[in-house]
Amino acid sequence: MSERLRIALTKGRLQDKSVELFEAMGLNCSPVRNPGRRLIHALPNYPLDAVLAKAPDVITYVEHGVCDLGVVGKDTILEKGGAFYEVLDLGFGRCRFALAVKKGSDFYGTYKTRRIASKYPNVTRAFFEGKGMDVDIIKIEGSVELAPILDLADGIVDIVETGATLKENGLEPIEDVAQVSARLIVNTASMKLYKNEITDFLSRVERELGGKA
Ligand code: PRP
Repeated sequence: MSERLRIALTKGRLQDKSVELFEAMGLNCSPVRNPGRRLIHALPNYPLDAVLAKAPDVITYVEHGVCDLGVVGKDTILEKGGAFYEVLDLGFGRCRFALAVKKGSDFYGTYKTRRIASKYPNVTRAFFEGKGMDVDIIKIEGSVELAPILDLADGIVDIVETGATLKENGLEPIEDVAQVSARLIVNTASMKLYKNEITDFLSRVERELGGKA
């Protein structure tokens, strides 16, 4: 008997893109398209239940095995880490982490310790440790671009997609930190327990992604 798998989808843009991908694979995603306030949805024509969660929670649910699979951005994976298999780059949700500063400012031209604001303190720490540079990191919850404008920080490490937010706030990217895109992750025990079901799902995803390439 085929086991129903449970997949955690990152709410918002990655959820929409995941639904597009699954529909292209022939999965009926109408419950996820019209979710109301419901957070878990059984797909009618494939043994898969979709759970809608915030990005870091997708990792938590997959790590704990309450979801077998997850779709989450590489940004969250780099920041939060965890024990799971990262099996596929889904190709959507592409953006990058960049170090950005006030336009024209000389970030490296001083010996004083720089202050960096970010929603991603671990990514920021790893980036500057890699350079052997000591920085003070200030955790900000959103609209990080405000920090240099308000003179709270010398720079930010943040997600850049179109670059419009930086530009409209008088900032410019000066260095790439990492490339980001949506990843499919799998719980390590589920991979063994539901090998056939997961292999079937993964090969359908790969076939669809391969067809697009
Ligand atoms: C993200 C990111 C930047 C912006 C980048 O913020 O933190 O602020 O998008 O996109 P762009 O390069 O296309 O302008 P989000 O919209 O998620 O809101 P937040 O800053 O409040 O987290």
